[in-house]
Amino acid sequence: MKQILKAAELTSAVNIARQEGKQIGLVPTMGALHEGHLSLIERALKENDLVVVSLFVNPIQFNNKEDLEKYPRTIEKDLELIKSLELKVKSEAKAKELLAFTPTVDEMYPDGEPKEVYHFGPVEEVMEGPRRPGHFSGVAVVVRRLFDLAQPHRAYFGEKDYQQIAVIRNLLEQIKYPIELVPCPIVRADDGLALSSRNMRLSPEARQMAPAINATLEQAAEMAEYEEVDDVKEWVLDTLASYHEVNDCPNGLCFEPEYFEIVDAITLQPIDDWDEAEEHGAVGCIAVWLDGVRLIDIVKF
Ligand code: PAJ
Repeated sequence: MKQILKAAELTSAVNIARQEGKQIGLVPTMGALHEGHLSLIERALKENDLVVVSLFVNPIQFNNKEDLEKYPRTIEKDLELIKSLELKVKSEAKAKELLAFTPTVDEMYPDGEPKEVYHFGPVEEVMEGPRRPGHFSGVAVVVRRLFDLAQPHRAYFGEKDYQQIAVIRNLLEQIKYPIELVPCPIVRADDGLALSSRNMRLSPEARQMAPAINATLEQAAEMAEYEEVDDVKEWVLDTLASYHEVNDCPNGLCFEPEYFEIVDAITLQPIDDWDEAEEHGAVGCIAVWLDGVRLIDIVKF
C-alpha cells in the first residue's frame, strides 16, 4: 500500500497504469474503516490490477455542521487496516498495487467550495433525499472528482447506503463515464446489526437493542410472502415504535423510526403492490433513531 496525498500524484500513477493496460478499481470512503469498507476493498483487490481507496471526509455532503465535526477521523488506524487486509488477501488478489488517497479539503477542492449542483430526479425525491437536502449532490461532486482523478474501470459501493447506489447509477448515466458500478452486500455484526461508523456512538445498552432493526426487517421479509405491502410497512413501523413497550429497555431507550419504505430496487419508487416490483425486485429501506443516533438499514424482498 502506498499513501498518496496529492491529486496530481494520483493522476500520474493511474495514467501509467492505464497505459500499461491495467484495470483500475476505486473504493470511495470517508475513512473510519470497518469490515464493511474492507469487504469492498477486498473485492476490488480481487477484480482489478490497481486499487485506489480514497479516504476523505467530504464536507459538502454534510447538511449538519455538528455531524461533520463529530465524524470520526482515524486515518493512521485506517491505513494499518488496509495494510493488514492487503497482506491477508495477497494470495487471492489480482491487484499488485494499492493506493490510499488521503487528500486534504484544499487538495480536493482547490478552488474553494464547488458550485456545481446535481439533480437526480425521482431517485432522490424519496427517503434520504428530502430529509438531507443537498446531500446527494455533495456526494456526486466528490465521486465525480474521484472518477476524474482515479479513472477507474470499476467503482465499489455498499448496499448499506442503498439510495447512494441509485444516485451514482444516475450520475454515471448523466456524465456517460464507462465505469462499472459494483454494488456490494451489507456486512453485519454477528448479531445482525449493519456495520456503520455511527455504531460507535451508541451506548452499550443501545448497542444491545440495535440488532432488533435487522431482526424486524428479516421477519418482514418472511411476512412479505403472504401479506400486502402496506401491512408489512405498518407492521415494521409499529413493531419498532412499540419495541420499548414490549421489551425491557434500559434508560428509557426506544426506537424512533423516521421512515420505512418499500420501493422498486432500481427506480426507488414506493410500491403499493408486490407485482409492481416484478422486474427489479423490491427493497425495504429504513431510517431509525436510537439513543440520538440515526441508523439506516435495508432488506431485500
Ligand atoms: P462511507 O460512509 O465511508 O462508506 C464508504 C462505502 O462503504 C460506501 O459505499 C458504503 O455503502 C460502504 N459501507 C459502509 N458500511 C457498509 C457495510 N456495513 N457493508 C457494506 N458496505 C458498507 O458512503 C460514503 O462513505 C460517502 O458518501 C462516499 C461515497 C465516500 C462519498 O463521500
